Amino acid sequence: MTKMAIIEKLEAKREAARMGGGEKRIAAQHAKGRLTARERLDVLLDEGSFEELDMYVEHNCIDFGMDANHIPGDGVVTGSGTVNGRLVFVFSQDFTVFGGSLSERHAQKICKIMDMAMKVGAPVVGLNDSGGARIQEGVASLGGYAEVFQRNVLASGVVPQISVIMGPCAGGAVYSPAMTDFIVMVKDSSYMFVTGPDVVKTVTNEIVTQEELGGAVTHTTKSGVADIAFENDIEALLAARDLVDLLPANNQAGVPERPSADPWDRHEDSLDTLIPANANQPYDMHELIRKTVDEGDFFEIQPTHAGNILTGFGRIEGRTVGIVANQPMVLAGCLDINASKKAGRFVRFCDAFEIPIITFVDVPGFLPGVGQEHNGIIKHGAKLLFAYAEATVPKITVITRKAYGGAYDVMSSKHLRGDLNYAWPTAEIAVMGAKGAVEIIFRGLGPDEIAQKTKEYEDRFANPFVAASKGFIDEVIMPHSTRKRIALGLRKLRNKSLENPWKKHDNIPL
Ligand code: HXC
Repeated sequence: MTKMAIIEKLEAKREAARMGGGEKRIAAQHAKGRLTARERLDVLLDEGSFEELDMYVEHNCIDFGMDANHIPGDGVVTGSGTVNGRLVFVFSQDFTVFGGSLSERHAQKICKIMDMAMKVGAPVVGLNDSGGARIQEGVASLGGYAEVFQRNVLASGVVPQISVIMGPCAGGAVYSPAMTDFIVMVKDSSYMFVTGPDVVKTVTNEIVTQEELGGAVTHTTKSGVADIAFENDIEALLAARDLVDLLPANNQAGVPERPSADPWDRHEDSLDTLIPANANQPYDMHELIRKTVDEGDFFEIQPTHAGNILTGFGRIEGRTVGIVANQPMVLAGCLDINASKKAGRFVRFCDAFEIPIITFVDVPGFLPGVGQEHNGIIKHGAKLLFAYAEATVPKITVITRKAYGGAYDVMSSKHLRGDLNYAWPTAEIAVMGAKGAVEIIFRGLGPDEIAQKTKEYEDRFANPFVAASKGFIDEVIMPHSTRKRIALGLRKLRNKSLENPWKKHDNIPL
């Protein structure tokens, strides 16, 4: 073959691979409001940065007529590219090729880019759109899944892993995204479940739609399996870019830094009146977060699940921080099972990737209730406590109002190695609310005496000074100076070095 002919053949092969399952199937994908695997990568990655690998890989199955049915690429597009100039490894399942189903070779392609990401220390972003195990291959496909699972686990805490679910993701296939750090879903277009509606009906007699069982809304509100849902492919992919932008490349790279035009010492006078005069009146903790971080830019994780605690990323002086904050607008900011799980996992992510943690505290305690106790608030609440206690990254805490009981301890208190623990003048740090406390220690008193004793208890504890006098609070700060104090604190703590005792791994209460 002449050189020219070889080049022509190469071009023809490339063209064939780019066409995936062909025009008809591409049109069907578009008709569902979905982009193709390659179009998705064009949105996710910087223009022209995608370098594809394994474009000509084909399956090795000979059963059920598959030997006569080969499509180059085998249902997944893999390679690397950049997001705002930073390297990421990617795979994008191609639903137009055998329904994006996972064959042995398809799995090998994913494993190859995961192995490379681990070698060079770069994030992996997986775009999932797949009918699950390649049915014609059977057990070879199951083996392929397990190879991916194993790599997900080894990569966990080493390089960030982000899954974007953009179509079906069912059966055991859900467990790869489940073991990644963040799951983004597309509304009315993606779903995740271990068994679909038909099996559910057969086994439990429950009748449920795909969307209700495992759609984006279900998983970002009820189950908490996924982190954020978006209206369409493009919004989801742009959000994945924003997330990559915030994250370190790996567990040793340190947080990314970019210039910020927002003055580090910006005063926010409006914060001085954020806390309402009535202690039982809520206020929106988002306001404090947005007024603290650079340019008011807060990337919230799980915004629609366990709204009583807020988690997400922002930047201070151009450097990423993780933020955890009680939200008085929902359940008065109580810690419950879902909030503890949500924030516990977030704190552990930050700690694994050396992202400093800022904690804003306004917590009246753990949520009381039979349901909470019977469903294990003891064990689940311990997750957040454990996560804060083991974290060695810089930890700055600001108590805005209530810090009661065990929840005070949990929320990155001084006793859990909080580095800088600040309180606003409105802080109340006590075992419990004044009225409840008095009704216990002065049981049997009449209403007037109870009111009197409650006032005494409030005067004693409804302020930050008792805790400050013991050194549990490092400084009482003015709300307007919160950003400045945090920025200064982060500068101080930049070279913080703290190690936990050697162990194989801990035994966090799962
Ligand atoms: C091989 C598959 C496939 C699969 C879909 N296709 N799923 N090929 N293995 N798992 C092919 C179809 O044959 C079809 O090929 C094309 O993909 C599109 O599929 P349609 O059914 O036409 O599309 P749609 O109507 O949109 O339905 C999508 C779907 C459905 C809901 C995903 O295809 C489906 O139910 N697939 C099977 C899902 C499943 O049971 N998977 C195995 C689960 S077990 P043509 O040539 O016609 O375009 C599992 C275990 C994992 O995954 C365990 C890990 C440990």
